[in-house]
Amino acid sequence: MRLLIGLVMTMATVSAQAEWCEVITFDNPAGVQWSADASDWDDGHAFMTRIIAGGGHINSVARVDLPMATSTSFASGSTTGRTATLVWSIDPAQPADPLDRIKSEKLYGSVKPSYDGIGKTYMGREISQVMGHLGAGWLERPEREQEEGTNILVEMMDVEPGDVIADIGSGTGYFTLRLAPRVPGGKVIGVDIQPQMNAILEENARKQGIKNVETVLGKIDDAGIPPNTVDIVLFVDAYHEFSHPWEMKRSLLRALKPGGHVVLVEYRKEDPTVMIKPLHKMSQAQARREFEAAGFNWITTHHELPQQHVLIFRKPVVEEPQAAAG
Ligand SMILES: C[S@@+](CC[C@H](N)C(=O)[O-])C[C@H]1O[C@@H](n2cnc3c(N)ncnc32)[C@H](O)[C@@H]1O
Repeated sequence: MRLLIGLVMTMATVSAQAEWCEVITFDNPAGVQWSADASDWDDGHAFMTRIIAGGGHINSVARVDLPMATSTSFASGSTTGRTATLVWSIDPAQPADPLDRIKSEKLYGSVKPSYDGIGKTYMGREISQVMGHLGAGWLERPEREQEEGTNILVEMMDVEPGDVIADIGSGTGYFTLRLAPRVPGGKVIGVDIQPQMNAILEENARKQGIKNVETVLGKIDDAGIPPNTVDIVLFVDAYHEFSHPWEMKRSLLRALKPGGHVVLVEYRKEDPTVMIKPLHKMSQAQARREFEAAGFNWITTHHELPQQHVLIFRKPVVEEPQAAAG
């Protein structure tokens, strides 16, 4: 089996052989005009997704199912940005979500580690080192409320009393414990990969008499939360540290209830007056690209905080097929 992708500047030939799913990434600063031709195909489908590293969006629809045709050219289109990724499958059964077929290692690159970086890249940025638990005191500094407008963020989240919130990269529980009293009929789950951080969170909860919190010791590539159980996923100053951002986002997309949403808080990279190490900042455009690529819908961005922006994404609600009448 063979798939030929013709591009303005690139020609890629991919042999399926044992593989039945592949991710092909093109990079073209001028944008990409692409067409895909198949020969020797069995039944199957290809999926053009919106996984676009380095900038731009597919300019028609976000994700297109491209059924194999008998004609040689079965699909064509264009992107406005630098890079387009085509996910294709020769599986005759249509996968529920083609993004689940992606081999994540194909999405990562490597560079010489910069100061405070881990030398691993994802969608054009180097991932930062994890803030160790010895820095816990900095998270709880008294001036944080004023510096970061933490109360404004908690108000802005506008939680419902019964909400289940997952605070990912919860650290000492600074936000977990401020949100828990606002969801008396629900709970806040603090997820961190450092057991020492979870221990501090638990001790702080005990001291404050807050009962509706749980801690989860997450894995670097899985938040460990059951599917469809969470109303809100919160990341504060944490996502840029994730060594496996693709896997984490996919695990959290599953954990969210349909229609549930993400609150992503990152220091504004666009703003040179925000005095935070570069790898610990993220631009709004970068954050949107990364989350939209993983299947989230961007809803809005709030700019009220002094140093961070707050991006809201929603998990799409998948329409169930209507039962046939009669
Ligand atoms: C800078 S701290 C922020 C803590 C907290 N969100 C706050 O604002 O106070 C980032 C936290 O993310 C955690 N972290 C890093 N990678 C993670 C992952 N893959 N899953 C869960 N937590 C992670 C780190 O252990 C650290 O505690």
